[in-house]
Amino acid sequence: MMSSLPRVRIADAGKHAGESIEIAGWLYNLRRSGKIIFPLIRDGSGTLPETLFEELRNLTQESSLLVRGKVRAEARAPGGYELDIESAQVLQRVGEEQPYPITPKDHGTEFLFDHRHLHLRSRRPHAILGIRHEVIKAIRDYFDSNGFTLVDTPIFTPAACEGTTTLFEVDYFDEEKVYLTQSGQLYNEATAMAFGKVYTFGPTFRAEKSKTRRHLTEFWMVEPEMAFATLDDVKQTAEELICFMTRRVLANRQEELQVLERDVARLESIQPPFPRISYDDAVKILQAKGSEIQWGGDFGGTDETLLSEEFDRPVMVDRFPAQIKAFYFQPDELRPELALGVDVIASEGYGEIVGGGQRIHDYNLLVQKMKEHNLPEEPYNWYLDLRRFGSVPHAGFGMGVERAVAWMCGIEHIRETIAFPRMLYRTRP
Ligand code: 4AD
Ligand code: MG
Repeated sequence: MMSSLPRVRIADAGKHAGESIEIAGWLYNLRRSGKIIFPLIRDGSGTLPETLFEELRNLTQESSLLVRGKVRAEARAPGGYELDIESAQVLQRVGEEQPYPITPKDHGTEFLFDHRHLHLRSRRPHAILGIRHEVIKAIRDYFDSNGFTLVDTPIFTPAACEGTTTLFEVDYFDEEKVYLTQSGQLYNEATAMAFGKVYTFGPTFRAEKSKTRRHLTEFWMVEPEMAFATLDDVKQTAEELICFMTRRVLANRQEELQVLERDVARLESIQPPFPRISYDDAVKILQAKGSEIQWGGDFGGTDETLLSEEFDRPVMVDRFPAQIKAFYFQPDELRPELALGVDVIASEGYGEIVGGGQRIHDYNLLVQKMKEHNLPEEPYNWYLDLRRFGSVPHAGFGMGVERAVAWMCGIEHIRETIAFPRMLYRTRP
């Protein structure tokens, strides 16, 4: 395996034009044209064609190998370079009797998700997960450079954040039951009082029986929380975050967007300011467009899609009826039946990507709301402490990473945006 040649990632091959290098990878494709063969090698960073190498003639797809040779600029090659192979060494040959199961033919969604552990090597999932990486990096960079401290919150939790109907229950040693977290928000409220501005970024779980293109049972959420902040600060921060993330994807992931045939003009129009409307107005717009929604009802997926058709960029909807929202929302001063919350509805029918708002900071009001929601006081006693000891107005939000990635990619279903999706009917591989 040892070679004196420098081991180079395919993404960096262009920096070595005219030099001899070594590539370690897998055989992605072998095209034959008369006597000439064109192996295409991938190494996780890119693909590189080589020419005229007899020993590779019968090599099977996804066999692993080392190849050594000289990098040559070739305008017609994908990536702009080819390798003139001088020698090759097969590390593991995929057997003829059990060939690599994924071929260029159409396989169908179920087959591909059953073979997700292998399918990840293909161009499309590779492009989508590259964009996911960019989205996550952009989110972190945005918060890190705007004074937020990352504080990770627990996954085993004794109490619900977003209502008890979507909790996954876990046996926790002797008699105790705990739940997988639906949101880090309640803990964020504590850490925001310690650090001023915080964010948590991790997996969250919802036992939602909805089998839609927008729902996973395990998804990643980024949740900022700010002390001395109001609903308007949430809108401002969410708008900046979304625009920053989109600019990053456009700047760094053109190749991936091209693989996905993304209409980048739609991404380019994600610019501030986003339109801001009230729930009242949103209901009127929806009714005029033929939706069945009545004032007091929650938006369905179809309503979110209808609403997004009215705008060329995301739209912010605020002041929802408190009765359809979680217990912790600060009521509107003039119309206490409304919650000071906001949903950001993505453009192009990608649905709600951000939900958040201002939290109740008054002790008595919070106790009253918890009673109305039939929540036991004991598991939330520590949360009430935050209102006993130096309570201040505070606010925050959560953005679902998979929905954001699906939107950036312009793909139909959220299941493709995570390496191993967990859904109502899928927990494998
Ligand atoms: O609107 P949600 O339920 O808000 C919260 O959990 C708040 N506690 C967040 C906060 O204020 N810190 O969820 C926030 C976002 C949604 O807008 C959506 O993008 C995403 O999380 N989300 C899901 N994504 C994929 N699959 C699901 N089942 C999702 N449920 C919510
Ligand atoms: Mg929501």
